[in-house]
Amino acid sequence: MLFERGALQEVILIKSAEELALIRQACHIVAQALEALRAAVAPGVSTKELEAVAEEHIRRKGATPAFKGYRGYPASICTSVNDQVVHGIPAEGVRLKEGDIVSIDLGACYRGYYGDAAVTLPVGRISPQAQRLLRVTQEALELALQEATEGRRVGDISWAIQSHVEKEGFSVVRAFVGHGVGRYLHEEPQVPNFGPPGRGPRLRAGMTLAIEPMVNAGHWGVRILQDGWTAVTADGTLSAHFEHTVLIRKDGPEVLTKLQ
Ligand code: MF3
Ligand code: CO
Repeated sequence: MLFERGALQEVILIKSAEELALIRQACHIVAQALEALRAAVAPGVSTKELEAVAEEHIRRKGATPAFKGYRGYPASICTSVNDQVVHGIPAEGVRLKEGDIVSIDLGACYRGYYGDAAVTLPVGRISPQAQRLLRVTQEALELALQEATEGRRVGDISWAIQSHVEKEGFSVVRAFVGHGVGRYLHEEPQVPNFGPPGRGPRLRAGMTLAIEPMVNAGHWGVRILQDGWTAVTADGTLSAHFEHTVLIRKDGPEVLTKLQ
């Protein structure tokens, strides 16, 4: 989500067992849809075709696309190619080609409850630099997920991401952040991908968070294209995005958008 200066809601929501059952289902639908998209990505495929695969899948499972209509967003998924960071709009004229990377972000709403996840996929063979960008961004998410447990603070997640990414010589986008998710698509707390450990709200069992590092190969600056949505790297370098919805528990993280 776009970084907001004010609070989203007053409080961080703790979900009941009944709510968690529905959030789990929403997240499972998200994970399955992303698997279908992974299989569909290939040279020559348009991002509009990916949109159709995603929407079909989400609706067939009895859910609705969480992004469509959200603040006027026109599609079910975001498809962001190469230097596009997030919020790329699927289009017939955007055809994937060998060597591209494509970030696919997808949210589903099931009986009023939300799941949100994203992956960046290679199209055919990609450069060693692009491979390293994907690996490091995914590793940053994995390290962040390990911090998503009762008693830690939001800043511990932020620092796990920033420290890993910068050690590898890449940069973390500042304009977008992770977020609480579940009863709404975007809830408190905001979860920045940068900042010091030991700060921010304390994590409690029953919170559900979308953790979503966006990593640029060059500088962290972004700009928004004329369509009002697509964020691209200001310096034209590649960008990657991985996201999971995770449940905070006493005994450690439960990653809800991973296929078991
Ligand atoms: N995962 C993204 C986010 O949290 C997806 C939002 S796309 C939008 O910002 F279209 F819904 F805005
Ligand atoms: Co999100």
